[in-house]
Amino acid sequence: MLSLINKQVLLGITGGIAAYKSAELCRLLVKAGADVRVVMTQSACEFITPLTMQALSSNRVHTELLDEAAEAAMGHIELARWADLIMIAPASANFIARLAHGEANDLLTTTCLAASAPITLAPAMNQAMWSNQNTQDNLANLKTKGRLIFGPADGEQACGDIGPGRMLEPTELIEQAANLFQTGALADLSVCITAGPTREAIDPVRYISNHSSGKMGYALAHAAAEAGAKVNLISGPVHLSPPPHINLINVESAEQMLNAATRTSCDIFIGVAAVADYRPIQKASNKIKKSKDAIQIELIKNPDILATIAAQQPKPFCVGFAAETENLESNALAKLKNKNIDLVVANHATETFNKDEASVNAYWHNGKKVLTLDRKEKIARELILLIKELM
Ligand code: C5P
Repeated sequence: MLSLINKQVLLGITGGIAAYKSAELCRLLVKAGADVRVVMTQSACEFITPLTMQALSSNRVHTELLDEAAEAAMGHIELARWADLIMIAPASANFIARLAHGEANDLLTTTCLAASAPITLAPAMNQAMWSNQNTQDNLANLKTKGRLIFGPADGEQACGDIGPGRMLEPTELIEQAANLFQTGALADLSVCITAGPTREAIDPVRYISNHSSGKMGYALAHAAAEAGAKVNLISGPVHLSPPPHINLINVESAEQMLNAATRTSCDIFIGVAAVADYRPIQKASNKIKKSKDAIQIELIKNPDILATIAAQQPKPFCVGFAAETENLESNALAKLKNKNIDLVVANHATETFNKDEASVNAYWHNGKKVLTLDRKEKIARELILLIKELM
Protein backbone atom coordinates (compact mmCIF):
# COMPACT_ATOMS: atom_id res chain seq x y z
CA MET A 1 0.00 0.00 0.00
CA LEU A 2 1.40 3.37 -1.01
CA SER A 3 1.80 5.87 1.76
CA LEU A 4 0.31 9.32 2.17
CA ILE A 5 1.52 9.62 5.77
CA ASN A 6 1.53 13.24 6.95
CA LYS A 7 -0.01 14.48 3.70
CA GLN A 8 -2.84 16.99 3.92
CA VAL A 9 -5.26 16.11 1.16
CA LEU A 10 -8.22 18.28 0.23
CA LEU A 11 -10.80 16.04 -1.44
CA GLY A 12 -13.14 18.03 -3.68
CA ILE A 13 -16.38 16.30 -4.64
CA THR A 14 -18.53 17.59 -7.47
CA GLY A 15 -21.98 16.50 -8.67
CA GLY A 16 -22.02 13.16 -10.42
CA ILE A 17 -23.15 9.63 -9.71
CA ALA A 18 -19.51 8.60 -9.18
CA ALA A 19 -19.62 10.71 -5.98
CA TYR A 20 -20.64 7.55 -4.12
CA LYS A 21 -17.13 6.24 -4.81
CA SER A 22 -15.64 9.32 -3.12
CA ALA A 23 -16.68 7.83 0.21
CA GLU A 24 -14.41 4.86 -0.41
CA LEU A 25 -11.70 7.16 -1.76
CA CYS A 26 -11.84 9.20 1.44
CA ARG A 27 -11.62 6.05 3.57
CA LEU A 28 -8.59 4.82 1.62
CA LEU A 29 -6.89 8.23 1.82
CA VAL A 30 -7.25 8.15 5.60
CA LYS A 31 -6.03 4.55 5.66
CA ALA A 32 -2.97 5.57 3.64
CA GLY A 33 -2.11 8.07 6.39
CA ALA A 34 -3.50 11.30 4.92
CA ASP A 35 -5.27 13.99 6.89
CA VAL A 36 -8.35 14.60 4.72
CA ARG A 37 -10.65 17.61 4.49
CA VAL A 38 -13.60 17.44 2.17
CA VAL A 39 -15.09 20.27 0.12
CA MET A 40 -18.38 19.48 -1.64
CA THR A 41 -20.22 21.46 -4.29
CA GLN A 42 -23.97 21.96 -3.91
CA SER A 43 -24.71 19.32 -6.54
CA ALA A 44 -22.33 16.83 -4.91
CA CYS A 45 -24.56 17.06 -1.81
CA GLU A 46 -27.46 15.78 -3.97
CA PHE A 47 -25.56 12.52 -4.52
CA ILE A 48 -23.87 11.89 -1.17
CA THR A 49 -24.34 13.52 2.21
CA PRO A 50 -21.74 15.71 3.92
CA LEU A 51 -22.43 13.65 7.04
CA THR A 52 -21.05 10.53 5.35
CA MET A 53 -17.91 12.40 4.34
CA GLN A 54 -17.57 13.95 7.80
CA ALA A 55 -17.73 10.52 9.43
CA LEU A 56 -15.13 9.10 7.05
CA SER A 57 -12.72 12.03 7.13
CA SER A 58 -13.21 12.79 10.86
CA ASN A 59 -13.33 16.44 9.86
CA ARG A 60 -16.18 18.85 9.32
CA VAL A 61 -17.13 19.03 5.65
CA HIS A 62 -16.94 22.39 3.86
CA THR A 63 -19.75 23.27 1.46
CA GLU A 64 -20.30 27.04 1.56
CA LEU A 65 -18.15 29.90 0.36
CA LEU A 66 -20.01 32.49 2.36
CA ASP A 67 -20.55 30.77 5.66
CA GLU A 68 -19.48 32.89 8.61
CA ALA A 69 -18.94 29.98 11.00
CA ALA A 70 -17.00 27.93 8.47
CA GLU A 71 -14.90 30.89 7.37
CA ALA A 72 -14.04 31.65 10.98
CA ALA A 73 -12.86 28.06 11.48
CA MET A 74 -11.10 27.51 8.15
CA GLY A 75 -12.01 29.63 5.13
CA HIS A 76 -11.11 29.09 1.48
CA ILE A 77 -7.69 30.72 1.77
CA GLU A 78 -6.74 28.63 4.79
CA LEU A 79 -8.02 25.48 3.09
CA ALA A 80 -5.96 26.32 0.00
CA ARG A 81 -2.84 26.94 2.12
CA TRP A 82 -3.47 23.85 4.22
CA ALA A 83 -3.51 21.41 1.30
CA ASP A 84 -0.45 19.48 0.14
CA LEU A 85 -2.64 18.12 -2.64
CA ILE A 86 -6.12 18.89 -3.97
CA MET A 87 -7.91 15.87 -5.47
CA ILE A 88 -11.17 16.54 -7.28
CA ALA A 89 -13.06 13.24 -7.58
CA PRO A 90 -15.39 13.04 -9.32
CA ALA A 91 -14.72 16.04 -11.52
CA SER A 92 -17.91 16.73 -13.49
CA ALA A 93 -17.93 18.30 -16.97
CA ASN A 94 -19.42 21.42 -15.41
CA PHE A 95 -16.69 21.68 -12.77
CA ILE A 96 -13.96 21.09 -15.37
CA ALA A 97 -15.43 23.93 -17.46
CA ARG A 98 -15.65 26.25 -14.47
CA LEU A 99 -12.10 25.50 -13.34
CA ALA A 100 -10.74 25.90 -16.88
CA HIS A 101 -12.32 29.34 -17.05
CA GLY A 102 -10.96 30.46 -13.70
CA GLU A 103 -14.38 30.87 -12.13
CA ALA A 104 -14.60 31.52 -8.41
CA ASN A 105 -18.30 31.17 -7.79
CA ASP A 106 -18.32 28.49 -5.11
CA LEU A 107 -16.04 27.22 -2.36
CA LEU A 108 -14.28 24.55 -4.41
CA THR A 109 -13.42 26.73 -7.45
CA THR A 110 -12.33 29.56 -5.14
CA THR A 111 -10.13 27.24 -3.09
CA CYS A 112 -8.53 25.88 -6.28
CA LEU A 113 -7.84 29.42 -7.49
CA ALA A 114 -6.13 30.28 -4.21
CA ALA A 115 -4.05 27.07 -4.01
CA SER A 116 -0.43 26.50 -4.90
CA ALA A 117 -0.64 22.75 -4.20
CA PRO A 118 -0.98 20.33 -7.13
CA ILE A 119 -4.56 19.87 -8.31
CA THR A 120 -5.65 16.54 -9.74
CA LEU A 121 -8.96 15.87 -11.46
CA ALA A 122 -10.67 12.51 -11.88
CA PRO A 123 -13.22 13.17 -14.63
CA ALA A 124 -16.50 11.26 -14.46
CA MET A 125 -19.23 11.81 -17.03
CA ASN A 126 -21.19 10.31 -19.88
CA GLN A 127 -19.00 9.22 -22.81
CA ALA A 128 -20.57 11.75 -25.21
CA MET A 129 -19.97 14.60 -22.75
CA TRP A 130 -16.37 13.39 -22.34
CA SER A 131 -15.75 13.30 -26.09
CA ASN A 132 -17.40 16.68 -26.67
CA GLN A 133 -14.91 19.16 -28.03
CA ASN A 134 -15.78 21.71 -25.35
CA THR A 135 -14.80 19.27 -22.59
CA GLN A 136 -11.63 18.26 -24.44
CA ASP A 137 -10.70 21.95 -24.95
CA ASN A 138 -11.27 22.62 -21.26
CA LEU A 139 -9.09 19.67 -20.29
CA ALA A 140 -6.32 20.75 -22.67
CA ASN A 141 -6.51 24.22 -21.14
CA LEU A 142 -6.24 22.79 -17.59
CA LYS A 143 -3.27 20.61 -18.57
CA THR A 144 -1.36 23.64 -19.88
CA LYS A 145 -1.85 25.15 -16.42
CA GLY A 146 -0.29 22.10 -14.78
CA ARG A 147 -3.50 20.46 -13.59
CA LEU A 148 -3.22 16.68 -13.58
CA ILE A 149 -5.95 14.56 -15.11
CA PHE A 150 -6.33 11.06 -13.61
CA GLY A 151 -8.28 8.83 -16.00
CA PRO A 152 -11.04 8.46 -16.95
CA ALA A 153 -11.54 4.74 -17.48
CA ASP A 154 -13.43 3.19 -20.33
CA GLY A 155 -16.43 0.90 -19.86
CA GLU A 156 -20.03 0.57 -18.84
CA GLN A 157 -21.58 3.79 -17.56
CA ALA A 158 -24.35 4.47 -15.04
CA CYS A 159 -26.54 5.81 -17.89
CA GLY A 160 -26.18 2.56 -19.85
CA ASP A 161 -23.67 3.88 -22.42
CA ILE A 162 -20.33 2.21 -22.95
CA GLY A 163 -17.22 4.31 -23.51
CA PRO A 164 -14.72 6.67 -21.85
CA GLY A 165 -15.83 8.73 -18.86
CA ARG A 166 -15.90 6.34 -15.90
CA MET A 167 -14.10 7.68 -12.83
CA LEU A 168 -10.95 5.71 -12.00
CA GLU A 169 -11.35 3.34 -9.08
CA PRO A 170 -10.36 4.80 -5.66
CA THR A 171 -7.34 2.46 -5.39
CA GLU A 172 -6.03 3.71 -8.75
CA LEU A 173 -6.55 7.33 -7.72
CA ILE A 174 -4.69 6.76 -4.44
CA GLU A 175 -1.80 5.15 -6.30
CA GLN A 176 -1.49 8.09 -8.70
CA ALA A 177 -1.77 10.58 -5.83
CA ALA A 178 0.93 8.83 -3.78
CA ASN A 179 3.20 8.72 -6.83
CA LEU A 180 3.10 12.52 -7.03
CA PHE A 181 5.13 12.68 -3.82
CA GLN A 182 7.71 10.14 -5.03
CA THR A 183 9.82 12.78 -6.77
CA GLY A 184 12.87 10.61 -7.49
CA ALA A 185 15.01 13.71 -6.85
CA LEU A 186 17.48 11.69 -4.76
CA ALA A 187 17.16 8.36 -6.59
CA ASP A 188 20.26 6.15 -6.17
CA LEU A 189 21.68 8.38 -3.41
CA SER A 190 22.17 7.45 0.23
CA VAL A 191 21.30 9.88 2.99
CA CYS A 192 22.29 9.74 6.64
CA ILE A 193 20.35 11.94 9.07
CA THR A 194 20.89 12.52 12.79
CA ALA A 195 17.77 13.58 14.67
CA GLY A 196 16.37 14.31 18.10
CA PRO A 197 18.23 15.07 21.32
CA THR A 198 21.05 13.10 22.89
CA ARG A 199 21.04 11.96 26.50
CA GLU A 200 24.26 12.26 28.47
CA ALA A 201 24.17 10.01 31.50
CA ILE A 202 24.96 11.41 34.94
CA ASP A 203 24.23 8.14 36.73
CA PRO A 204 22.11 5.07 35.88
CA VAL A 205 18.83 7.03 36.25
CA ARG A 206 19.66 10.64 35.36
CA TYR A 207 20.85 12.44 32.29
CA ILE A 208 21.42 15.82 30.65
CA SER A 209 19.32 16.43 27.53
CA ASN A 210 17.29 19.07 25.71
CA HIS A 211 13.80 19.70 24.31
CA SER A 212 14.44 18.59 20.72
CA SER A 213 11.40 16.65 19.44
CA GLY A 214 13.11 15.14 16.40
CA LYS A 215 10.24 16.35 14.17
CA MET A 216 12.41 18.13 11.59
CA GLY A 217 14.88 15.24 11.32
CA TYR A 218 12.07 12.71 10.92
CA ALA A 219 10.33 14.93 8.33
CA LEU A 220 13.60 15.16 6.38
CA ALA A 221 14.08 11.39 6.56
CA HIS A 222 10.54 10.94 5.21
CA ALA A 223 11.06 13.49 2.42
CA ALA A 224 14.43 11.96 1.46
CA ALA A 225 12.90 8.47 1.29
CA GLU A 226 10.05 9.81 -0.85
CA ALA A 227 12.67 11.40 -3.10
CA GLY A 228 14.00 7.89 -3.70
CA ALA A 229 17.05 7.94 -1.40
CA LYS A 230 18.25 5.07 0.80
CA VAL A 231 17.90 6.64 4.24
CA ASN A 232 19.62 5.85 7.54
CA LEU A 233 18.06 7.81 10.37
CA ILE A 234 20.22 7.92 13.50
CA SER A 235 17.87 9.03 16.21
CA GLY A 236 18.18 10.04 19.82
CA PRO A 237 15.21 9.25 22.11
CA VAL A 238 12.00 10.77 20.68
CA HIS A 239 8.27 10.01 20.73
CA LEU A 240 7.79 9.71 16.98
CA SER A 241 6.94 6.81 14.69
CA PRO A 242 9.67 6.27 12.13
CA PRO A 243 8.70 7.20 8.57
CA PRO A 244 8.18 4.30 6.13
CA HIS A 245 11.03 2.89 4.03
CA ILE A 246 13.93 4.11 6.17
CA ASN A 247 16.47 2.34 8.35
CA LEU A 248 16.20 3.56 11.93
CA ILE A 249 19.25 3.39 14.22
CA ASN A 250 18.38 4.24 17.81
CA VAL A 251 21.07 5.81 19.98
CA GLU A 252 21.16 7.70 23.27
CA SER A 253 24.41 9.59 23.74
CA ALA A 254 26.45 11.82 21.44
CA GLU A 255 29.25 9.25 21.44
CA GLN A 256 26.85 6.53 20.30
CA MET A 257 25.50 8.89 17.64
CA LEU A 258 29.03 9.62 16.41
CA ASN A 259 29.84 5.89 16.25
CA ALA A 260 26.70 5.18 14.25
CA ALA A 261 27.35 8.14 11.93
CA THR A 262 30.96 7.19 11.17
CA ARG A 263 29.94 3.60 10.47
CA THR A 264 27.26 4.69 7.97
CA SER A 265 28.55 5.76 4.56
CA CYS A 266 26.42 8.20 2.60
CA ASP A 267 26.27 10.70 -0.27
CA ILE A 268 24.43 13.26 1.85
CA PHE A 269 24.81 13.79 5.60
CA ILE A 270 22.20 15.92 7.36
CA GLY A 271 22.92 16.74 11.00
CA VAL A 272 19.61 17.78 12.53
CA ALA A 273 20.20 16.30 15.98
CA ALA A 274 20.42 18.65 18.92
CA VAL A 275 23.59 17.02 20.18
CA ALA A 276 24.39 17.88 23.80
CA ASP A 277 27.47 20.10 23.73
CA TYR A 278 28.84 18.56 26.92
CA ARG A 279 28.59 15.27 28.81
CA PRO A 280 29.54 14.40 32.39
CA ILE A 281 33.17 13.32 32.47
CA GLN A 282 32.17 10.32 34.49
CA LYS A 283 28.91 8.42 34.73
CA ALA A 284 28.43 7.37 38.35
CA SER A 285 27.99 3.61 38.48
CA ASN A 286 25.29 3.91 41.17
CA LYS A 287 22.50 6.41 41.66
CA ILE A 288 23.93 9.55 43.22
CA LYS A 289 22.47 9.91 46.71
CA LYS A 290 20.95 13.12 48.00
CA SER A 291 23.41 14.37 50.63
CA LYS A 292 25.21 17.71 50.32
CA ASP A 293 23.32 20.94 49.59
CA ALA A 294 25.38 21.51 46.49
CA ILE A 295 27.22 19.08 44.28
CA GLN A 296 29.21 19.54 41.09
CA ILE A 297 29.15 17.58 37.90
CA GLU A 298 32.18 18.10 35.75
CA LEU A 299 31.44 18.21 32.04
CA ILE A 300 33.58 17.58 28.99
CA LYS A 301 32.91 18.68 25.43
CA ASN A 302 31.22 16.16 23.14
CA PRO A 303 32.67 15.37 19.72
CA ASP A 304 31.19 17.42 16.86
CA ILE A 305 29.51 14.75 14.75
CA LEU A 306 28.79 16.95 11.75
CA ALA A 307 32.30 18.41 11.64
CA THR A 308 33.76 14.89 11.95
CA ILE A 309 31.75 13.67 8.96
CA ALA A 310 32.56 16.84 6.99
CA ALA A 311 36.29 16.17 7.55
CA GLN A 312 36.06 12.72 5.92
CA GLN A 313 37.56 12.06 2.50
CA PRO A 314 35.66 11.68 0.28
CA LYS A 315 33.26 14.01 1.97
CA PRO A 316 29.49 13.64 1.62
CA PHE A 317 27.38 16.71 0.88
CA CYS A 318 27.00 18.01 4.45
CA VAL A 319 24.01 19.89 5.83
CA GLY A 320 23.86 21.37 9.31
CA PHE A 321 21.21 23.08 11.38
CA ALA A 322 21.65 26.17 13.47
CA ALA A 323 19.01 26.76 16.12
CA GLU A 324 19.88 30.18 17.46
CA THR A 325 18.35 32.63 19.87
CA GLU A 326 20.25 35.63 18.45
CA ASN A 327 22.39 36.75 15.47
CA LEU A 328 20.86 34.10 13.25
CA GLU A 329 22.67 34.94 10.03
CA SER A 330 26.17 35.52 11.38
CA ASN A 331 26.02 32.40 13.58
CA ALA A 332 24.75 30.32 10.66
CA LEU A 333 27.47 31.58 8.30
CA ALA A 334 30.12 30.90 10.95
CA LYS A 335 28.91 27.27 11.21
CA LEU A 336 29.02 26.90 7.44
CA LYS A 337 32.68 27.89 7.49
CA ASN A 338 33.90 26.38 10.76
CA LYS A 339 32.33 22.98 10.21
CA ASN A 340 33.26 22.98 6.49
CA ILE A 341 29.71 22.11 5.47
CA ASP A 342 27.79 22.80 2.25
CA LEU A 343 24.49 24.09 3.57
CA VAL A 344 23.28 25.41 6.89
CA VAL A 345 19.63 25.73 7.85
CA ALA A 346 19.04 28.35 10.50
CA ASN A 347 16.03 29.03 12.64
CA HIS A 348 15.06 30.61 15.92
CA ALA A 349 15.44 27.94 18.60
CA THR A 350 12.45 29.10 20.63
CA GLU A 351 10.16 29.11 17.57
CA THR A 352 11.16 25.65 16.42
CA PHE A 353 11.84 23.29 19.30
CA ASN A 354 8.93 20.88 19.79
CA LYS A 355 6.76 22.71 17.23
CA ASP A 356 5.05 21.28 14.14
CA GLU A 357 5.91 24.32 12.06
CA ALA A 358 9.11 26.17 11.27
CA SER A 359 10.38 29.07 9.23
CA VAL A 360 14.01 28.71 8.20
CA ASN A 361 16.76 30.52 6.35
CA ALA A 362 19.07 28.27 4.35
CA TYR A 363 22.60 29.54 3.60
CA TRP A 364 25.25 28.12 1.33
CA HIS A 365 28.55 29.53 0.10
CA ASN A 366 27.12 32.11 -2.22
CA GLY A 367 23.42 31.92 -1.71
CA LYS A 368 20.48 32.10 0.63
CA LYS A 369 16.88 30.89 0.59
CA VAL A 370 14.13 31.91 2.99
CA LEU A 371 11.39 29.38 3.68
CA THR A 372 8.48 31.06 5.42
CA LEU A 373 6.48 29.49 8.26
CA ASP A 374 5.05 26.16 7.23
CA ARG A 375 4.64 22.58 8.44
CA LYS A 376 7.97 20.85 8.98
CA GLU A 377 6.93 18.21 6.40
CA LYS A 378 6.61 20.89 3.72
CA ILE A 379 9.83 22.65 4.76
CA ALA A 380 11.58 19.26 4.64
CA ARG A 381 10.38 18.58 1.10
CA GLU A 382 11.64 22.00 -0.01
CA LEU A 383 15.01 21.43 1.68
CA ILE A 384 15.43 18.08 -0.07
CA LEU A 385 14.84 19.79 -3.43
CA LEU A 386 17.31 22.54 -2.48
CA ILE A 387 19.96 19.94 -1.54
CA LYS A 388 19.41 18.22 -4.89
CA GLU A 389 19.79 21.57 -6.67
CA LEU A 390 23.03 22.46 -4.84
CA MET A 391 24.72 19.06 -5.12
O1 C5P B 1 27.78 23.63 16.99
P1 C5P B 1 26.29 23.71 17.00
O2 C5P B 1 25.66 22.80 17.99
O3 C5P B 1 25.75 25.08 17.11
O4 C5P B 1 25.89 23.24 15.52
C1 C5P B 1 24.66 22.69 15.19
C2 C5P B 1 24.82 21.71 14.05
O5 C5P B 1 25.91 20.83 14.28
C3 C5P B 1 23.63 20.80 13.90
O6 C5P B 1 23.54 20.43 12.56
C4 C5P B 1 23.99 19.61 14.80
O7 C5P B 1 23.31 18.44 14.42
C5 C5P B 1 25.48 19.50 14.57
N1 C5P B 1 26.23 19.05 15.76
C6 C5P B 1 26.85 17.82 15.75
N2 C5P B 1 27.57 17.42 16.84
C7 C5P B 1 27.70 18.21 17.91
C8 C5P B 1 27.08 19.45 17.95
C9 C5P B 1 26.34 19.85 16.85
O8 C5P B 1 26.70 17.09 14.76
N3 C5P B 1 28.41 17.80 18.95
